[in-house]
Amino acid sequence: MKILLLEDEYSLRISIVEFLMKKTIMISLLVSTSLFAADYSSVIEKPNASELIQKDLLPPAKVFTMPSNCVTNDKDSIARGAFIFHNLNGGKVKGKLPKGLAKKNANGKSKQYGNCVACHNIEGAVGAGNIGPDLTGYKAIFVDSGVRDNQFVYQKIADPRVENANTHMTVNLTTKLFNEQEICDMTSYIVSER
Ligand code: HEC
Repeated sequence: MKILLLEDEYSLRISIVEFLMKKTIMISLLVSTSLFAADYSSVIEKPNASELIQKDLLPPAKVFTMPSNCVTNDKDSIARGAFIFHNLNGGKVKGKLPKGLAKKNANGKSKQYGNCVACHNIEGAVGAGNIGPDLTGYKAIFVDSGVRDNQFVYQKIADPRVENANTHMTVNLTTKLFNEQEICDMTSYIVSER
């Protein structure tokens, strides 16, 4: 019994000594690293959040007047409008392009077409979203009834914030996502008989 007790006391002392030794090593390691550590503060990237946000902010809302001969019954224009409207893509243009559309921007980058169908339903839409109003039967319901006109549709696509400051729709002309002709093509498609 006595031997056992002694043994216990011995191992207890050993572990206290071990603990103190480890603690000393840890503290000396910490002290030495903090004393000799290089100053990396200049290397750490510190992005300027305000600058980054500024870069991503949209330019102010802009009123646009539809150019003359913008909305037409021209088959090619309507085909381009339909193509842009229905092309759900993430950077790459899918399918055969109608006459007058290019795969790349002037700067050689792949042009991103459409994504209108991500939010709007319309005749022949595949996988349409419902964040925006359904544009099915638009001509009869909205244009012929006098509720909307071509200029309204053009402005809505060019910069929807003019009519609704809190819109969830993409801004297309102020941001140069699309050019005037392409906005006309989409307007022609939406107000066309389908
Ligand atoms: C992120 C969702 C979203 C996308 C993408 C989107 N829209 Fe819209 N759209 C809306 C919403 C929401 C409205 C309702 C009015 C508003 O908030 O401005 C709207 C309204 C419209 C209207 C007006 C309908 C009316 O008579 O009131 C037209 C036309 C239109 N969008 C066309 C387009 C076209 C063309 C594209 C593609 C270039 C497009 N939208 C892309 C969400 C979207």
